[in-house]
Amino acid sequence: MWDYSDKVIDHYRNPRNVGKIDNADAIGEAGSLACGDSLKIYLKIKDGIVTDAKFQTFGCGSAVASSSILTEMIIGKSVEDVKKITNKDIADQLDGLPPEKMHCSVMGYEALEDALKNFDDYTDLEDIRNEEATNKKSEKIVCQCFGVTENVIWDALKLNGLKTVEEVTNYTKAGGACGKCKGLIQDIIDTYYKKENEKNESALTPAQKILKINNVIEKQISPELRKDGGDITLVDIDGNKVMVKLRGKCSGCKNSHLTLKAFVETTLRDTVDKNIEVVEV
Ligand code: FES
Repeated sequence: MWDYSDKVIDHYRNPRNVGKIDNADAIGEAGSLACGDSLKIYLKIKDGIVTDAKFQTFGCGSAVASSSILTEMIIGKSVEDVKKITNKDIADQLDGLPPEKMHCSVMGYEALEDALKNFDDYTDLEDIRNEEATNKKSEKIVCQCFGVTENVIWDALKLNGLKTVEEVTNYTKAGGACGKCKGLIQDIIDTYYKKENEKNESALTPAQKILKINNVIEKQISPELRKDGGDITLVDIDGNKVMVKLRGKCSGCKNSHLTLKAFVETTLRDTVDKNIEVVEV
């Protein structure tokens, strides 16, 4: 049984703005019946303001709740503000969704994006949402079972900080049936984070990098080690070489090398620079 917030339950039991708008100014769709969930959203837009929104959905309670709250979120807002709404905003407005149901919020985001793309005044949503629009992937279908494109996976990674294939499945459904696409999904994850790392590296000055390493050690790594009675101190940084001292239970532990490489070094590589090497002094 999933753990749903009161808001999800309320919007599922009393969905707002269900139905169709005749003569809608924009209509967007996401999902498909073949995939088990589908959503159609209708917008009425006047003078750049969304004056009405309705939806029709075939899906689970989370899909109904996500669609319902999305209509409430956009009515009365300017098109420019509506363009900035992400699936995370939808989930946040519902006080969260179970990880396995995050794909419902993504479906709302996709339907909205589709509607705005079809709107006459549509400018260039991707430019607004994504400064790397030029680097975005094509509309290539990655998951044949659910018809999920590379763009959708790319957006889900970017907007939600997903790191694993399982998380991508939870957010987009891709990989959730035959599983043949899992290798491709992993490739997309690897490519995305490679680009992110390159961007971070070129963006950080040496001083910023030192600060960031310090920050990650203090805020992420040390608290994790302290949970098991260990700890870590940053001793020095020389380029990409980070010198540390393990403390408490970590000091002298037979697995300290594993802690250093598989946890400390991996975390710093993922968050700061993929070339970082961690050594104990
Ligand atoms: S192709 Fe993606 S689950 Fe089958």
